Amino acid sequence: MITVEVAVPGSAYPVVVGAGAAGRLPDLLDPGARRVAVVTQPGVGFAVDPGREHRVFPIGEGEQAKTLATVEALCRAWSQWGLSRGDQVVAVGGGVVTDTAGFAAAVYHRGVPVVHVPTTLLGMVDAAVGGKTGVNLPEGKNLVGAFWQPSAVVCDTDALATLPERELRSGLGEMAKYHFLTGDDLLALPLDERIAACVRIKAAVVAADEREDPGETRGRAILNYGHTLAHALESAGEYGLRHGEAVAIGLAYAAELAWYLERIDDARVADHYRVLAEYGLSATPPPGLDGDRLLTLMGRDKKAVGGLTFVLDGPGGVEVVRGVAPDDAAAPLSWLLHDAARRPRGDG
Ligand SMILES: NC(=O)c1ccc[n+]([C@@H]2O[C@H](COP(=O)([O-])OP(=O)(O)OC[C@H]3O[C@@H](n4cnc5c(N)ncnc54)[C@H](O)[C@@H]3O)[C@@H](O)[C@H]2O)c1
Repeated sequence: MITVEVAVPGSAYPVVVGAGAAGRLPDLLDPGARRVAVVTQPGVGFAVDPGREHRVFPIGEGEQAKTLATVEALCRAWSQWGLSRGDQVVAVGGGVVTDTAGFAAAVYHRGVPVVHVPTTLLGMVDAAVGGKTGVNLPEGKNLVGAFWQPSAVVCDTDALATLPERELRSGLGEMAKYHFLTGDDLLALPLDERIAACVRIKAAVVAADEREDPGETRGRAILNYGHTLAHALESAGEYGLRHGEAVAIGLAYAAELAWYLERIDDARVADHYRVLAEYGLSATPPPGLDGDRLLTLMGRDKKAVGGLTFVLDGPGGVEVVRGVAPDDAAAPLSWLLHDAARRPRGDG
């Protein structure tokens, strides 16, 4: 079993990784907690035993369940059951469950402790660690939320045995991202150590910049490496990409853009394609995408004033780069979308 400490000032907590890690859950709960509300989805199929009185509160599937209505339903059901401030919530599932249950825990009685038991790879290396919780509005994803650090995270790799192939690949997209944040050779590690290594990278970034200070260029925002195009691909919507699949394409684009801006050389671009290939991830966007629309979506928050903001690799590592001219962002996007012959350049 591997334990990684997330040293967030004032609320440090352990992330326990390994086969059978869920057996540690009773010890990781507050000894004073009398009752435990377990939030999960029927499809998760991974049961935990908190070792004290508990009840399961199921929520629905997918982004459409990540709503204020679900948060209200959870809080009302907890209240009717008698969950008090001294009790605890345990979220068992992917990012949809940990984001929603985490937010409900953050606001119920103005905050009850939550332990996350992520059961997707994406949840283990990303969503369950770092304290961002929240739900969607019809107007956009994750528009309502809170920073609410868990009191512990339990990554039981046994849970991954039932995870559908596509969900596993989605987690691999996030995992691939971590390769470029530190330069560590994560591919050489067995799965549990690799998950722990990703958690360690995220933990270090979050401990240094818990609230994502907008003035930081190497703070929490670097965790969004590959995400600018990924979010645009997801907002464009109709392509049905899982998050990590979109991130994989976003990583290829970030590498091409950094090369175009002369921040990295051919070999570093090749590195990006190599890591994506070794994870079995496609760098190729689905056919029929409209570059102009993607550019608009990527610049939506900042408009054209002062250019676009990206997280890009460079001589000093990955950092936030502001003021990228729309024309500069457009050229590598056009290669990626239309010039299949251009892409293997990274391999050569
Ligand atoms: N808070 C953060 O920092 C953060 C970071 C990244 C992503 N997220 C959020 O995470 C969400 C995506 O999470 P996700 O990719 O885990 O998707 P998800 O939670 O929708 O899970 C994917 C599917 O797998 C099923 N599942 C979960 N565990 C399983 C298991 N062990 N066996 C079989 N099936 C299982 C789920 O029921 C679901 O159908 C998004 O809403 C995203 O916004 C949050």
